[in-house]
Amino acid sequence: MSASSSELTADLAELVTLARSVRERAYAPYSRFLVGAALRADNGQVFLGCNVENASYGATICAERAAILAMIAAGERAVTAIAVFTDADTLAMPCGLCRQVISEFQQGARLVVANPRERRVLGFSEIFPEPFVLER
Ligand code: THU
Repeated sequence: MSASSSELTADLAELVTLARSVRERAYAPYSRFLVGAALRADNGQVFLGCNVENASYGATICAERAAILAMIAAGERAVTAIAVFTDADTLAMPCGLCRQVISEFQQGARLVVANPRERRVLGFSEIFPEPFVLER
C-alpha cells in the first residue's frame, strides 16, 4: 500500500533528522534564522544544504537551493522528497525563489516542513502548482 501524501513515512522522518542536524551549520549572522534542508534524489542519495548569508544580504543562499546545488554538482537531476527544518514558531515554507528552483528538478516530490514541535507533509506541487517554464 502506498503512503498517503500527508503521512510522515520513515524516509521523510530520516530527511527531517538530517535537515535538523545540518541546520546547525547554517551561516546566518545577520538574520540569526538558521535553516537546514535535506533532499533525496531519485537514485536514493541524500543531499544537504543550509542557508549561507552574506554582508551584501542579496547574495544570501537559502538552505533548499544549497541542497539542490549539491545534488546537481553530484550529477543527479531529480528530487523525490525534501525536508526543511527551522526553529520558527510557525512552520517556515520554502521561499518563492526556492520553489521555482526546486520545481525544475521535481515531479511529484513530497515536502516536509518541520520545527522541533511539529511536522507538516505536503506534495510539492500543492505549494507551487504553476511554475514558470521556458517554452519558445
Ligand atoms: N531562508 C532559507 O534558507 N530558506 C527559505 O526558504 C527562506 C529563507 C533563509 C534565508 C536567510 O538566510 C534567512 O532564512 C532569513 O530570511
